[in-house]
Amino acid sequence: MSQDKNEWGSNLSFILAMIGSAVGLGNIWRYPYVLYSNGGGAFYIPYIVAILLMGIPFLILEYGVGYNFKSSFAKAVKKINSKWEYLGWFLPVAVFMIMIYYSAILGWDGIYIILSFFKGWGADPNVYFTTTLLQSSDSYMGLLQFIPLIAVAMLVGWVIIWFISHRDLEEGLGKVSKVLVPLLFVIMVIIVGFSLTLPGASIGLAELFNPDWSLLGNFEIWMAAFGQIVFSLSLGMSIAFTYASYTKDDADLITNTISIALANSLFENFAALGVFSILGYMSLQSGTPVAELVTQGTGLVFVVYPTVFNVLGQWAYVLGPLFFLTVYLAGLTSILSTIEPLSFSIQNKFGLTRSKTMTILIIFGAVISMMYATAYGGSILGFVDTFINQIAILFGVILECIIFAWIFKAEKFIDFLNSKSRTIKLGKWWLLIVKYILPIFISIVWIGGMFDVIKNASFDQMLFTILAAAILLITTLVFTVLPAKNPEWENTEERV
Ligand code: PHE
Repeated sequence: MSQDKNEWGSNLSFILAMIGSAVGLGNIWRYPYVLYSNGGGAFYIPYIVAILLMGIPFLILEYGVGYNFKSSFAKAVKKINSKWEYLGWFLPVAVFMIMIYYSAILGWDGIYIILSFFKGWGADPNVYFTTTLLQSSDSYMGLLQFIPLIAVAMLVGWVIIWFISHRDLEEGLGKVSKVLVPLLFVIMVIIVGFSLTLPGASIGLAELFNPDWSLLGNFEIWMAAFGQIVFSLSLGMSIAFTYASYTKDDADLITNTISIALANSLFENFAALGVFSILGYMSLQSGTPVAELVTQGTGLVFVVYPTVFNVLGQWAYVLGPLFFLTVYLAGLTSILSTIEPLSFSIQNKFGLTRSKTMTILIIFGAVISMMYATAYGGSILGFVDTFINQIAILFGVILECIIFAWIFKAEKFIDFLNSKSRTIKLGKWWLLIVKYILPIFISIVWIGGMFDVIKNASFDQMLFTILAAAILLITTLVFTVLPAKNPEWENTEERV
């Protein structure tokens, strides 16, 4: 395996690819709702604290270690302590599981790009989405009910992913990020600019930002802010680690981190303006209060937006395709990042080329993902998503804090990171955050989230959570015990 196949051509490719990973569905369909339902304008206080106290310091840690090892996540964890190889495979496998269900959402959105040219969702977008398209069933028998349209749309996505990912890093992901990420921002500016001019936009915005200061004393809005930042910045997922390991020697990681966090926040706050202007417009047209229209997730993108396009007249034929294209681009640039940690770890351990590893993983992912193209697929997606985001990934963040900050000793590379930094310099404050504040706080959020899942789970959700956990743990074990094919795998030398 030659190293240069996994190297960014420039710092710009690294930053844009990382922004592409961070800016995703979470920014478009999750953040506006989180902001609205957690105190509106008052939410900015916990949000900014979460970025400064967690987002940026933690990204610096993840980048710093990735840059230091210049190897895959699994290999680095094994180098830190050879008994822990298992932990090194855990996160890359968990993130690959995200990829598999993200491909379904991408597929649905692909279908909506086409529908939006002729408002193909009909007069009742809710019925169209749940009954006509997904044919949602809450019985396991739904697994036998295959939906070819979704399958085809998902396969188109997998082919696009393969086309980009099997190439050398800069030739594929690097170049694509340089085009798609700026394009994503430009289209978003157009959409939001238009939305702001709609009658009623100010009603939505007033509703969104109306600050509820009394909520600041409420622990839940702080948890919501930290949860949003973990998800939105793709923290603790071994993605930032892997992307940093692909950088060249002269990268200024601290400044890069700040730019990425800023771009991510800019995008999501922009998205919130767009979403709430549209909701304000809808409220004015229909007489329904904004509070009753607002929702998040698939309900926002595939039901509320089509409903708005139905009343928007001719403009909808422009705004609709642009909107679903934005969602597609945001999803695509994120999904491309979810394969990198596992792919690079496999290349390192088994000595396979980047191209071959990607091809195998993508075929495997595409085949498994077909379970989401069934009538029960939507339900499984919800269960797996909750398990991965509320349980597995938060566990990963705690794990990374312990392994990187404590065992590997974060103090080791402060000088090294500072020597490259043109902006902020790290000091004791950074150690305090990554060694104490973060692991303690995330543990609290993690335990709280776990209780929440257990308390509210239906029998089916419990069953699929246990199944997803078993698949994750067993697959991780398989990668750990398979014998290495690459002699480099046993090399324990460090760079700093
Ligand atoms: N950060 C992405 C978002 O905000 C989500 C994501 C999750 C990206 C997992 C990559 C991997 O939507």
